[in-house]
Amino acid sequence: MAIISDDDNNIKFNNTKNDNIAMEETSYDMSFESNIRPKHFNEYIGQEALKSTLKISIEAAKKRDLPLDHILFYGPPGLGKTTIASVIATEMNTNIKITSAPSLERPRDIIGILMTLKAGDILFIDEIHRLNKISEEILYPAMEDFYLDMTTGKGQTLKSLRIPIPKFTLIGATTKAGALSGPLRDRFGIIHRLEFYTDDELTKVIQRTAKILDIQLDEKGAHAVAKRSRGTPRIANRLIKRVRDYAIVKSNGIITDKVANMALDILQIDKFGLDNTDRALISIIADKYSGGPVGIETLATALGEDVKTIEDVYEPFLVQKGFIQRTPRGRKLTPFACKCFNLNSFDVQQSLF
Ligand code: ADE
Repeated sequence: MAIISDDDNNIKFNNTKNDNIAMEETSYDMSFESNIRPKHFNEYIGQEALKSTLKISIEAAKKRDLPLDHILFYGPPGLGKTTIASVIATEMNTNIKITSAPSLERPRDIIGILMTLKAGDILFIDEIHRLNKISEEILYPAMEDFYLDMTTGKGQTLKSLRIPIPKFTLIGATTKAGALSGPLRDRFGIIHRLEFYTDDELTKVIQRTAKILDIQLDEKGAHAVAKRSRGTPRIANRLIKRVRDYAIVKSNGIITDKVANMALDILQIDKFGLDNTDRALISIIADKYSGGPVGIETLATALGEDVKTIEDVYEPFLVQKGFIQRTPRGRKLTPFACKCFNLNSFDVQQSLF
């Protein structure tokens, strides 16, 4: 999938490669997602500091009749980077084109998109840290002075052209701000980290989603699901559908805290929101490496996951909740993890305290 483009602020897909299956899945997900995805700030729950900053920037941009500064969002997956970009487009009354860096392999991919932008449009590039050097260098003058540097001809007829493009806003999203090159990072005027959601915020997200999807639940039921959603709306919105299924089959369709907890127990999501992989990660550090420290590559091999998935998906929440600690010598369990999981073997204690 090369471009997910949009004319009237509706997200569409532009399939340019042999990836029909991926596209079908993505289209399905997106149609479900786009129903529950907030379109305005007043529907978007959480990320209060970010919303305040953005509201001011948007109002100023509108008053100055200029596009917004380029924005970089970073933080763990599922916290709403794409969603907030779409909200910005709605609030700015403009179009958004959504793509991701791995789809921008060839110079013509990025040039193609940049040439189709209209004044004020938003270009959203997900996983922007994965942009290759050539595409990145095409972006520099586009971001800074709104032109493309191109060459035509060969040898003595080689000419360089400066093609102006309309003033646009680039919104980049990444799970790894540190992996972005300095020159690219420096070209963003607004850089903001998305934070994990509190249980109360997630409760509201779940209540909102339940209303849209006609799921019956009481407040305690919503809170029970929120508590096990690891601070992540994407997970909360996934779990609520699984809990709904359980409530329909095993109960009267209404999600109470009791029903939610029974469903989540069956899904093997514990009271901290940890799943089997999280627990396997913790027990490998405890059992095989005496509580750590252990290098991320070794851990990935032992777990049978790739390093990127551990770093991007599992680790941020485990670190945030205080189960594991990153040290220069590798990952280590905390005393808190030992307490929660009854890991008081002599070996673990030795390395931890
Ligand atoms: N669905 C997913 N993320 C959301 C958010 N932040 N607010 C409301 N609904 C959401």
